Amino acid sequence: MKKKINIAIDGPAAAGKSTISRRIAERMDYIYIDTGAMYRAVTLHVIRHGRQVLDDLDDLDIRFGTGGTTLYLNGEDVSEDIRTLEVTSNVSEVSSVPEVRRYLVSMQQKIAEDKGVVMDGRDIGTTVLPEAELKIFMKASPEIRARRRLKEEEARGVEIDLETLTTQIIRRDDLDMNREISPLSKAHDAVLLDTSHMGITEVEDKIIKMASDLLKGD
Ligand code: CDP
Ligand code: CDP
Repeated sequence: MKKKINIAIDGPAAAGKSTISRRIAERMDYIYIDTGAMYRAVTLHVIRHGRQVLDDLDDLDIRFGTGGTTLYLNGEDVSEDIRTLEVTSNVSEVSSVPEVRRYLVSMQQKIAEDKGVVMDGRDIGTTVLPEAELKIFMKASPEIRARRRLKEEEARGVEIDLETLTTQIIRRDDLDMNREISPLSKAHDAVLLDTSHMGITEVEDKIIKMASDLLKGD
């Protein structure tokens, strides 16, 4: 059977993780898992039904559609609803609840059991897949990341200014880096990529080259 590896991609908001992870998974014919979308789905559920839902996480059914872009929460396609500013403003807080992390991390580990997975998030290289063969930590300046998000929000018809987005990104980075359980941090064996001045294809090609070298046994 063809050898497969797991690729862990971590970093702060809008560093380019999901865009690049999805493209790498496509090129390698791997499964792409956006763990941020899973935390967003739980947050949406809390917004809709209140915090008591956190007592019964086993009742939740979170699934990805083929290609990893569609996300179903209890059978409903919530791919759009999990991207609202309301979810974004609350997700870091919900993600710091120990039960939520335990529940999602175990689900993520199960998905990656058979290898051939590109998984992006905040704690993939450190906690979810510490044995991943390739670990990347992407970063970019807050200003550049806020500009990237602004473009996306504008394309979606959302009215928001750069200053608000920058403040939101810095606040979320801070909460994610300083929470008690598996905070956002670079695994000691992760390769650091500053994507501030790199195009998507350039980052993608770099990671594909590292993965191919590993698969060839270099
Ligand atoms: O796409 P964006 O970078 O805005 O964020 P995301 O990847 O969708 O993640 C949303 C939030 O989920 C993050 O700000 C973290 O609070 C949380 N998260 C986490 O705690 N652990 C992960 N592995 C992934 C996301
Ligand atoms: O998943 P994460 O929040 O880290 O970032 P993303 O959603 O993949 O990327 C945020 C935006 O930045 C997307 O619109 C990407 O197309 C863009 N991007 C970019 O312009 N240059 C890069 N090197 C990486 C991402």
